[in-house]
Amino acid sequence: MGAHISYLIVGNGRLAKHLINYFNLLGIKYTHFHRGSGKTLRELVKESSHVLLAITDGAIAEFYNRHPEIHGKTIVHFSGANSFPFAYGAHPLMTFTQNLYGLEEYKKIFFVVEKSDKKLGEILPGLTNKYFEIPKEKKPYYHALCVLGGNFSVVLWKKMLNEFENRLGISREAMWPYLEKILAEFMRDPQNSLTGPISRGDWKTVEKNLESLKGDSFRSVYESVLEAQ
Ligand SMILES: NC(=O)c1ccc[n+]([C@@H]2O[C@H](COP(=O)([O-])OP(=O)(O)OC[C@H]3O[C@@H](n4cnc5c(N)ncnc54)[C@H](OP(=O)(O)O)[C@@H]3O)[C@@H](O)[C@H]2O)c1
Repeated sequence: MGAHISYLIVGNGRLAKHLINYFNLLGIKYTHFHRGSGKTLRELVKESSHVLLAITDGAIAEFYNRHPEIHGKTIVHFSGANSFPFAYGAHPLMTFTQNLYGLEEYKKIFFVVEKSDKKLGEILPGLTNKYFEIPKEKKPYYHALCVLGGNFSVVLWKKMLNEFENRLGISREAMWPYLEKILAEFMRDPQNSLTGPISRGDWKTVEKNLESLKGDSFRSVYESVLEAQ
């Protein structure tokens, strides 16, 4: 990494903490600023070539406008759906929770970057992650697919887990082999791994399922998925 590269990471949420952990594991130097840090942004920016805005999507433009001292630096944001004229977008296709990950896990993460004049290695020098480029205009659709596939599946799993444990007395351990196999089989053969009444065209069973969900807000989710098939 060139001697002139110096990072300033802004934010103290989940992504910022994971970036800091990844940088520490790689031995990349950085400074860190967030609202409660008690540090002066102006001082930190002086030494920085790259400013990473790891903050809430809705705060990115406002932060940039409020801090002219960062203008002229290479600015990077990590929002999947948004793009900004003043920043390069590099969305890590990963879920970052409160738990930190290991170096090998970070290295495996793919980035999806906005098409620009720069490669990922120039936007985020020192990172050798694989990446895909997409046009800015396609980011909202790209991100909607991430939310549908990645986030909504968790909503459904949470529903299953809560109802199993609270209403049926089936412990979560019973779910793990089932869900693990679903992912493994999907990865092995995505187009042919769907099982269950919808894949079989077992409409009587589907009707029974819907009947049992009367009064449950997830009934409309079941109906929407049926319709979207
Ligand atoms: N988490 C993920 O799985 C994930 C994955 C890919 C991309 N991303 C992207 O990463 C970025 C950060 O997401 P996150 O999950 O880390 O969010 P988060 O855990 O909710 O943290 C958000 C951070 O933004 C800061 N912030 C909010 N408003 C601010 C403002 N007006 N000025 C300065 N700082 C402000 C918060 O500061 P305080 O601590 O002071 O409240 C907090 O540190 C987003 O662009 C998101 O789309 C996240």
